[in-house]
Amino acid sequence: TGVRVGVDIGGTKILAGVVGSEGRVVDSEGRETPHRTAPADVVEGLIADAVAALQHRHAVEAVGIAAAGFVDAAGSRVMFAPHLSWRDEPLRDRLGARLGLPVTVANDANAALWAEHVHGRARGARDVVMVTLGTGIGGALMIDGRLHVGRNGMAGEFGHIRVVPDGRPCECGHTGCWEQYCSGKALARFAADAGSPLSGPALTEAAERRDPVARGAYLEVGRWLGTGLADLVAGFDPELVLVGGGVSAAGELLLEPARRALHEALVGSGHRSEPELSVATLGPYAGLVGAAELTRL
Ligand code: BGC
Ligand code: NA
Ligand code: ZN
Repeated sequence: TGVRVGVDIGGTKILAGVVGSEGRVVDSEGRETPHRTAPADVVEGLIADAVAALQHRHAVEAVGIAAAGFVDAAGSRVMFAPHLSWRDEPLRDRLGARLGLPVTVANDANAALWAEHVHGRARGARDVVMVTLGTGIGGALMIDGRLHVGRNGMAGEFGHIRVVPDGRPCECGHTGCWEQYCSGKALARFAADAGSPLSGPALTEAAERRDPVARGAYLEVGRWLGTGLADLVAGFDPELVLVGGGVSAAGELLLEPARRALHEALVGSGHRSEPELSVATLGPYAGLVGAAELTRL
């Protein structure tokens, strides 16, 4: 029998990996995500290319896709994607035909939470809220031990909850969305506004070196994270809140201000137990590991 491959399609990177036992990524291939206006076919070509490279080295039996967009309840189409050009895109069937393999499609954050549930920090937890901070905010919800996807498959789109009336325009077409204030993009913008040219891992390193501008940017994103999470905790009363995605690599630099803001903003705090707030354990691989695991279901 062959191996399972997961592919995470993010705002900046397409990452494909062979997932072995216990969720370990034993081989991987990366491609740069094209500009968000690139035709769907170009993105699909890159996915197929990355999977084909893995097929040269492994007998692949199934492929799971973690897509940064709104996936239908059947796990077949990407109906909408703020950061990509997919609109009502029959991704499962297109890729299936292209690869000659069974393909499943899930939202990237949902896949990440599934990976954490099977192999990571969320093992054994029944009520979990997860956010992944990358180009945008991905969201996922576990209720009573089950991944909650809603009627359309689109539950958990926390990044597009409006947190600022008439706020910054969002790629989704609305304004004031949470992901405009709390994401990798927002982090780089806060740093730029304060005079730093850094973004991504370079900004994290600067914050770890105690660079005040970089620290300030994390503090700001951390506060937005905590206040936003307070609303989600008010709504879902989880035992665990997981933060994944590239920005979470900063660990306590981000979580410490978030914890404080969450506590201050949470309704009824002092009269309830508060959820544990922690970083996801599968790091940049969570989405692809979860997508590969979902092919088993
Ligand atoms: C999209 C989500 C996606 C997230 C992270 C958001 O802008 O609406 O579907 O999960 O970005 O990639
Ligand atoms: Na989601
Ligand atoms: Zn939005």
